[in-house]
Amino acid sequence: MSYQGLIEQYKNYLPVTDKTPKLTLMEGNTPLIPLENLSKEWGCEIYVKYEGLNPTGSFKDRGMVFAVAKAKEAGSKGVICASTGNTAAAAAAYSARAGMKCLIVIPKGKIALGKLAQSVMYGAQIIEIEGNFDQALEMVRFTAENSDYALVNSVNPYRLEGQKTGAFEICEQLGEAPDVLAIPVGNAGNISAYWKGFKEYREKHHTSLPQMRGFEAEGSAAIAKNTVIENPETIATAIRIGNPASWNLAVAAAEESKGKVDFVTDEEILEAYQTIARTEGVFAEPASCASIAGIKKQLATGEIKKGSKIVAILTGNGLKDPSTAMEFLSIKPTLLKPGKTELVDYLKQAVK
Ligand code: F0G
Repeated sequence: MSYQGLIEQYKNYLPVTDKTPKLTLMEGNTPLIPLENLSKEWGCEIYVKYEGLNPTGSFKDRGMVFAVAKAKEAGSKGVICASTGNTAAAAAAYSARAGMKCLIVIPKGKIALGKLAQSVMYGAQIIEIEGNFDQALEMVRFTAENSDYALVNSVNPYRLEGQKTGAFEICEQLGEAPDVLAIPVGNAGNISAYWKGFKEYREKHHTSLPQMRGFEAEGSAAIAKNTVIENPETIATAIRIGNPASWNLAVAAAEESKGKVDFVTDEEILEAYQTIARTEGVFAEPASCASIAGIKKQLATGEIKKGSKIVAILTGNGLKDPSTAMEFLSIKPTLLKPGKTELVDYLKQAVK
C-alpha cells in the first residue's frame, strides 16, 4: 500500500491507541541523498537526510504530527509552543489541520522570514517577546501548566517519539545504521530522539549504533562549553538557544554512542551552507549546515575517521531563510536589455 503518513507507517513503534486521530500531512519518508562530490573530496561516504522536504519544510513535522494528534486525543483546546521558527510553523500547520487553536511565542526579530510567513498563513496566534528562545520556553511551560493548552515543544515526549522515526528511515534506506550521525543541536531534542530511534531499531532489526555527533553554533554552544549562555548569538537563528531543555539526554546520547557534542563557528556554518548548495545542489537553512560544517571539522581533527559512512541531518529547507542567502552572497543578478542578441554578447564577454 502507498505511504499513509508517519503515524500510520510507524504505529507499531509509537504509543498509538484506537482513539489517536489519523492526523497527517504526509510527513516523513524524506530522501537520503548521497553527496557524491563532497564524499570524493573529503574521503568518506556522506549522505544527507533532507528533512526540508517535509510538509512545512523541517524535521519538526515528524514530532509535531504526533504531539498534536495526542493533544487532540487528550481533549486539549489548543497547543502552545516557544520557537525559533520551525516548531511554530509545524505547530501552526498541524493544529490548523486538527481544528485546534495554536499559540506561539517567538523572539522578536530573530525568526527567519519564511518561517514567520508560514505561521501567519496557518493562522496561529503569534506573540513576540523582546527576549530569547529560552525565556519564551519558560513562559509557555508555565502557561501550559495553568491553561488547557498542550505544550508541544520537544519537552513533550510525543515530539521525541515522532522524531525518532528519522532514525528508522535512515536504517531502512541505507540497509544498516551509519558509522556516524551528524546533527545540528539547538534545544537538543532531535539528537535525543535519533539516539532513541537507533536503539529501538537495533532491538528489532539487530542494526549497529552510530556515533552521535551533535553540533551547536559557537555563540550558543551551551552543551559543548558546559555552561548556560545568557545571551546566545548566531547567524543560525534556528539554534540560537543558550539553555537547551534536553541537555542531559544529548550528553547521554553522545557518551553512550562514543560521539560528542561539539560546536562550529558561524563562518564554518556559512561555508558549509554555500558548499552543499554549489557542489551538490542541496539547499538547506544555515542551522542545518552545522552538521556538514561539523563533519569537515572532525575529519580534520581525526575524530571522524576517513572512509566512514556518515549521515548528516539537514533539518530545514533553505527556502525558509531567503534573507540570509541574499545577504550572505553579494552576487547580484546581471541586468541586460531585452534584445535578441544581448545574451549571446554577454556570454562572449563573460568567457573572456
Ligand atoms: N535545525 C533546525 C532547522 C531547527 O529549527 C532546530 C530547532 C534545530 C536544528 C535543532 O533541533 O532543538 O531538537 O536540537 N528549532 C527549534 C524551533 C528550537 O523552535 O524551531 P533541536
